[in-house]
Amino acid sequence: MKQVSESVGAYYHHYPRIAVAVGAYHEGKNNAMIAGWHTPLSFNPPLFGVSLSPRRFTYKMIVESGEFTVNFLPASAAGLIAALGGSKGAAVDKFAAFNVARDIPLKTNAPVLADAYAAYECKLLEDRQFGDHQLLVGEVVAVHSLAEAFTAEETIDLKSITPAFYMGNDKYITKFKAAIETLERHKFGQPGVL
Ligand SMILES: Cc1cc2nc3c(=O)[nH]c(=O)nc-3n(C[C@H](O)[C@H](O)[C@H](O)COP(=O)(O)O)c2cc1C
Repeated sequence: MKQVSESVGAYYHHYPRIAVAVGAYHEGKNNAMIAGWHTPLSFNPPLFGVSLSPRRFTYKMIVESGEFTVNFLPASAAGLIAALGGSKGAAVDKFAAFNVARDIPLKTNAPVLADAYAAYECKLLEDRQFGDHQLLVGEVVAVHSLAEAFTAEETIDLKSITPAFYMGNDKYITKFKAAIETLERHKFGQPGVL
């Protein structure tokens, strides 16, 4: 029988999730933190949300600058993820300390990480509290991507890139062997087809 409990416990049941680096620039300083809690919200306009504790230095920088980036990093950058998520921008210049290279942003001043296989530049649209976190919703105003990381159908090419999956409790999937099948939703959604 399945276990049932009213206690949420460590709250790791929804992992693995891709860990992203959320970048911000304010008053001459670049900073980035890691977020496992993030979500696409709308196609048109393209909206993307990140859930940040208001205690994060990055949160304050985003609210003050009105801009942020979402950087999708490969598993090979798991060490950088642990470093950016384990240090405070208020105390350290993470870009200098961890030797983080940047690409030039197109529409914002927020940092685009050169190690990312894709990145969104976002303009802050909403900042709403949900419990002990703030959901920051940004409109995606520019997209950076590494051509070889995506197939002709614009899905990620796992032969070229392994995304950085986070499992909770400081554990990462740094290597995996994936089997990919196309299951056409219109066929599978037809009653009686299976
Ligand atoms: C894998 C991982 C995932 C994280 N996910 C989140 C998250 O979704 N939201 C959040 O507020 N903090 C998250 N953190 C914690 C921040 O990244 C961490 O507190 C960071 O030091 C904040 O940096 P800052 O003070 O420079 O903004 C995560 C950390 C790690 C390592």
